[in-house]
Amino acid sequence: MSGPHPSPNDAPRPRKLSSRNVLNHRSKRLFPGDTLKHRIARALCDAGCLPRKEFFEAWETAKRVRRRMRGGHIYDLAAGHGLLAAILLILDNSSPGATCVDLVRPPSQAKVLAALTSVWPRLAGRISFIEGDLSDVSPAPEDLVVSVHACRDLSDRVLEVAVRSQCRVAVLPCCHDLKRTPSGPYRSWMDPTLAIDVARVVRMEQAGFTVTAQQIPDAITPKNRLLLATPGPMTEGLQ
Ligand SMILES: C[S@@+](CC[C@H](N)C(=O)[O-])C[C@H]1O[C@@H](n2cnc3c(N)ncnc32)[C@H](O)[C@@H]1O
Repeated sequence: MSGPHPSPNDAPRPRKLSSRNVLNHRSKRLFPGDTLKHRIARALCDAGCLPRKEFFEAWETAKRVRRRMRGGHIYDLAAGHGLLAAILLILDNSSPGATCVDLVRPPSQAKVLAALTSVWPRLAGRISFIEGDLSDVSPAPEDLVVSVHACRDLSDRVLEVAVRSQCRVAVLPCCHDLKRTPSGPYRSWMDPTLAIDVARVVRMEQAGFTVTAQQIPDAITPKNRLLLATPGPMTEGLQ
């Protein structure tokens, strides 16, 4: 990336983190800082294809995942543009690589990856894309499965991949299928979408995982519950 950026003091802050406006050259003034977050955002402005909201979703998720889960090959399932996988690799170079899986490879995937690789050349050749069903992958136990906004039961299928492989997993579920609201007694106490996510936590715990529940800021998306799960009992330090 080249060219001067306005000083942080002059910079307008993104008013609407949930905006679906596409990041482009004009958006660079929103990200003038030397922080990694702003550097990634400016690179994505050069890609000219990514809605602002999706940058914040991927960044906030990746940051929280990497505080707890380092290393391992990354499987970004229902990956779309695959930005989550790329940011995870930028944040932790000890992961050897990433595989993005989606039924369809959107044109934005190549653009996002090219823009980031021009600033972080070490990404080159380390992210592959499989067009196919997310359940077809077989991660190893040391790997890391991630997914942002896999719709409806796709988030459950992402969790099933992790249970089958006994590997770490992080999901930020999306729209919920209310027909799958659990029938437990707590159903009348809480919003049905929360009940579905609580049932996901319970299922992962019953499968022997240690689960951490977090949230990304709801100013970015109301679908902001982040479930992190690691096989086995809780251990000290990074999982
Ligand atoms: C809401 S988008 C999320 C995309 C991306 N993770 C993001 O955060 O922008 C859901 C994605 O799931 C993909 N998808 C739907 N069914 C799938 C399946 N069976 N296996 C893999 N991906 C699937 C869609 O093609 C779509 O890209």
